[in-house]
Amino acid sequence: MQNTIPLAQLPFSQACENNKHVILTHLVQWLSHTTQVLEIGSGTGQHCVFFAEHLTHLRWQPSDQPHYLDNLQARLQHYPLNNLADGIELDVSQSWPKLVAAIDAIYTANTLHIMSCELVEAFFVGCGKTLAPKGCVAIYGPFNYSGEFTSDSNAQFDVWLKQQHPLSGIRDIEWITTLAKQQGLILTEDVAMPANNRLLYFTRT
Ligand SMILES: C[S@@+](CC[C@H](N)C(=O)[O-])C[C@H]1O[C@@H](n2cnc3c(N)ncnc32)[C@H](O)[C@@H]1O
Repeated sequence: MQNTIPLAQLPFSQACENNKHVILTHLVQWLSHTTQVLEIGSGTGQHCVFFAEHLTHLRWQPSDQPHYLDNLQARLQHYPLNNLADGIELDVSQSWPKLVAAIDAIYTANTLHIMSCELVEAFFVGCGKTLAPKGCVAIYGPFNYSGEFTSDSNAQFDVWLKQQHPLSGIRDIEWITTLAKQQGLILTEDVAMPANNRLLYFTRT
């Protein structure tokens, strides 16, 4: 397959490079029996290529909104991995695509503070419908606890987010766990990550 866009010219997130190793140490354990992962909001694709490369026992399905797909696909062309599928269109507010295999894990990073509250609700409803009965969900990003920011930098980030889009903002963990519970997903681990982020692991039994 011909690579049309050199890697150096594709959108790049330094944060993804910084956090991917520490996220992987947890995914290795949580996804040890997983066969099919659906990623929501794959963005630049840096996480999916790295995780597919290191979690060779499972198949990784990236997805994003239509306007992200060209750049996502351009990165995937540089990583012809057997267990990494082409990126597919998935907007959490629309009906989620029918997938060839049952999805037993859903992964998303740095998305819930970008989405409006309505979209976050749609994300969890979609997880509930798409996930296999004993599936799991892993979510990376910043969260508030008891309505409080966990750091000054997160408070400043929240101001910046709302300047970009008034409906964006760091979400309360209590609200997130309530939405998850409505889909039968229980918060099983909540791990502190560098730069005041968290990695949440929900399971459905
Ligand atoms: C800050 S980027 C994060 C991208 C990547 N996961 C990362 O960690 O760098 C936010 C992502 O959320 C996605 N997103 C926002 N609204 C969405 C929606 N309605 N449905 C699906 N993805 C959405 C964006 O398309 C984008 O890929």
